[in-house]
Amino acid sequence: MPKAVVLHKHPEGTIQESDFAVADIPRPALKEGFFITRNSVISLDAGFRAWMNAGAGDNYLQGMQIGDPVQSIVLGEVVESANSDYPVGTIVNARTAWEEYSLLDGSDLCAPLEPAADLPLAEYMATLGPTGMTAWVGLFEIGKPQANDVVVVSAAGGAVGTVVGQLAKAAGCRTIGLTSSAEKAQWLVDSVGFDAAISRESDPDLLTALQREAPEGIDLFFDNVGGAVLNDAMGHLAENARLVLCGAISQYETAPQAVTNCWELITKRARMEGFMFSDYADQFPNILADLEQRMRDGTLKSFDQQYLGIEKTAQAFCDMMQGRSRGKCLVVLE
Ligand SMILES: NC(=O)c1ccc[n+]([C@@H]2O[C@H](COP(=O)([O-])OP(=O)(O)OC[C@H]3O[C@@H](n4cnc5c(N)ncnc54)[C@H](OP(=O)(O)O)[C@@H]3O)[C@@H](O)[C@H]2O)c1
Repeated sequence: MPKAVVLHKHPEGTIQESDFAVADIPRPALKEGFFITRNSVISLDAGFRAWMNAGAGDNYLQGMQIGDPVQSIVLGEVVESANSDYPVGTIVNARTAWEEYSLLDGSDLCAPLEPAADLPLAEYMATLGPTGMTAWVGLFEIGKPQANDVVVVSAAGGAVGTVVGQLAKAAGCRTIGLTSSAEKAQWLVDSVGFDAAISRESDPDLLTALQREAPEGIDLFFDNVGGAVLNDAMGHLAENARLVLCGAISQYETAPQAVTNCWELITKRARMEGFMFSDYADQFPNILADLEQRMRDGTLKSFDQQYLGIEKTAQAFCDMMQGRSRGKCLVVLE
């Protein structure tokens, strides 16, 4: 029997593996206009945590319900089809769920993929997938980096953060990554290529650490964390700084924290802007070509942590949320 991972209960505070359960789910029956995928790679994305809470749901996504397979972005191959746009054998990515088989109609961020033969397929759920698109759109469309800018990235050791750091460095910027542990900070410099890294472990006072590492102020802050981290960065901006609001992971499991440094945006003539990567779907083919080329010429490396089998999905998600993983967290199903 095919398996899926369902929401067992709405998480309260820190996510636990016990918030999820593996369930036997019969393979779906094909309907006119639909197709069935056998899924091979599940992308673990921190952003979905916000829609797991009881009563969650907003203009972007519906909240997840107990007993339903957990929403996610997934890569699969069409194995049955009653939709001429998606014949059998098509590789697709789609916003579907932590499940081995999906019934899809081509809507909801679903797109056929033409993966390059010389690049690993799983990368199309990582650096060449929504993660890479998010990093690229946030950095280039919203942040607009200039050579020699000081670029600070929060959650720098995660999926989006590792890609942003490399793209900004390649654009001629000085890059500073923020992370949890001293060990992860060292890895950011030694392996990912950040110019400097600040850890909460070694530098609990972030503002002082930013003043030390970026004495002239931050030109571009790429924020995945929100709350106190965002507030400290707002307190140390260079003139005409840009703040890219990509995510707010520090706020997904706790009550939101106040941001009090708004006056700094005025005196520094700064611009702060949020974005959703999915709004840039018409640009994905060009962005993908750019990311593929960077991977081929070695200027962009992928840092993935792969888990094998659907039973590992809950563990993988918790590891990612709690900073135990590095780079992109993926579950490979076959
Ligand atoms: N706007 C969009 O379109 C879009 C699309 C995709 C993702 N996102 C957002 O981008 C961010 C990164 O997502 P991702 O999927 O790439 O996840 P990720 O960065 O791979 O994983 C999350 C990381 O956040 C850090 N973290 C966790 N709790 C934290 C806390 N309380 N304070 C500071 N850091 C904390 C941890 O790393 P450390 O050990 O380094 O602290 C953890 O590994 C998320 O906020 C997500 O919502 C936005």
